[in-house]
Amino acid sequence: MKVQTAYRILAPGYDWLRPLWAGGILGDAERFLEREILPQQCPPGGVVLDLGCGTGANLERMLKMGIPIRKYAGVDISPAMIRCARRKFSWFRDAQFYLSDLERLPFSDNTFDFAISTWALEHVPQVKLAVDESLRVLKRGACLVLLSHSLPNLPWRIPVYLIKPIFRFAPPMRLLSPRDYSSSDSGDHTWHFAKGLHTLHLLTTEAAT
Ligand SMILES: C[S@@+](CC[C@H](N)C(=O)[O-])C[C@H]1O[C@@H](n2cnc3c(N)ncnc32)[C@H](O)[C@@H]1O
Repeated sequence: MKVQTAYRILAPGYDWLRPLWAGGILGDAERFLEREILPQQCPPGGVVLDLGCGTGANLERMLKMGIPIRKYAGVDISPAMIRCARRKFSWFRDAQFYLSDLERLPFSDNTFDFAISTWALEHVPQVKLAVDESLRVLKRGACLVLLSHSLPNLPWRIPVYLIKPIFRFAPPMRLLSPRDYSSSDSGDHTWHFAKGLHTLHLLTTEAAT
């Protein structure tokens, strides 16, 4: 099933389904993101990019947290998800939603002060290309936060393999490791949650000299 087809089906119920993998006992990564990462790394009044924004969960959380945003750009490949996001945030004039592939971002170099991607990269075929694109459009010294599903530690890997057949009915996705997209260790930080099923990765672009 194509990603766009899957998210056309999922879009109407997406906001209710989301806590299944990102809330409750699986919510540690998002709680850490809200408690430790966003307050420290998202510069107040910044121009923010949300990669694979879906229905705008990250914009919603930043607004709830009271993080001042000068401009927000959400990018997603699914017309249905983008439509939901536009409808939800029609009142917020500083948000723009773009229908585009993360592998080819429609922005100039050095545009954004901060970028975030939650639960989206695992759907992207050329994940390294998408991360390089994100770094290209970030300003020097800016942060990119990536939260994705990853292969858990043993023995938690076993149930993941057992339920794998169910994923035939889900959007195409794979479990990622930072090694899939990060070539250098400098300035990178990685945290694991939910026995390794969730990985949060913080990359910083090289500061201007
Ligand atoms: C699980 S949803 C996550 C949405 C949102 N970030 C969140 O945290 O709720 C994954 C999103 O990634 C988008 N996506 C998948 N592949 C993409 C690609 N190549 N380019 C842009 N968006 C993509 C999907 O359309 C979907 O909206």
